[in-house]
Amino acid sequence: MPADNRNKTTIMTLNRHKKEGEKTVLVTAYDYPQATIADKAGVDCILVGDSAGMTTHGFKTTIPVTMDHMIMHADAVSKGSNNAFLIGDMPYMSYQSSNELAVENAGRFIKAGMDCVKVEGDMTDRIKAIADSGIIVMSHLGLTPHTRAKLGGYRVQGKSAESAEIILKQAVELQEAGCSFLLLEAMPAEPAGMIAAELNIPVYGIGAGNNVDGQLVILHDLVGLFWEFKSKFVKRYCEAGQMIEKALLDYCSEVKNLEFPTQDHFYEINEDELEKLLADSSWKYEKDRVENLAEPKHSVTPRTSRKK
Ligand code: KIV
Repeated sequence: MPADNRNKTTIMTLNRHKKEGEKTVLVTAYDYPQATIADKAGVDCILVGDSAGMTTHGFKTTIPVTMDHMIMHADAVSKGSNNAFLIGDMPYMSYQSSNELAVENAGRFIKAGMDCVKVEGDMTDRIKAIADSGIIVMSHLGLTPHTRAKLGGYRVQGKSAESAEIILKQAVELQEAGCSFLLLEAMPAEPAGMIAAELNIPVYGIGAGNNVDGQLVILHDLVGLFWEFKSKFVKRYCEAGQMIEKALLDYCSEVKNLEFPTQDHFYEINEDELEKLLADSSWKYEKDRVENLAEPKHSVTPRTSRKK
């Protein structure tokens, strides 16, 4: 828990955003540096998403992600963030089989520093059980990756009046069951906006247009660190992958060409100690130094003597 949490975003802050029409900013993060940067940038909410499976572990889907993976990510994110409202994403099969399992796993997220948990799908029983245990819950409707096979793949949802009505009905039931937030994924802007207007709780979107109460983007999509595919709703704000690759290319080249490290990066040894060391003829280093003096492959000039 941060020593000074006066700026901590809470459920009250987020409800006030909705009431006053202020858009809420959500982003995913999976580790300490990402959470620290997101927090510093002033995002309102960090979702420790099970998208970690794809962005960080290299899985093809989120299905293999376990509670143990998620708790490790949640723990690191909670250490990096002081102010953002933290949401832990319940992974596949961590809530489906029973209310007891759902509450137990939601509790593990809270112990790892999360403020809230997110549950995919029309799971009114699970939402009620978790909310009744005193844990804040976000529901997730629209494109729900855990049930993508049932949906016929990663498809935009709510494109017909009938399917939009079904999502609206589910949203109302989830609100009644006790969820405090709703996330809509991959839906046309109009039905998503109608759901946000209908519900009292904040309704956020990822690929659900701009009529909702806030926006979520996956960090790796936003900064260019995920290249397997790019959804229509993603906007890249920078190409961090390219920047890191360029840095590594420069590093490789500088090491090969003896341009790194330079004296600025060396630790010093006391001159007397160095002389003692060089006087010990059993050291191979000294032998190499003498042998290579004519055409040295590596710089062996001690830093202390270079200074003179
Ligand atoms: O895991 C995640 O990041 C998510 C978003 C795609 C909604 O659940």
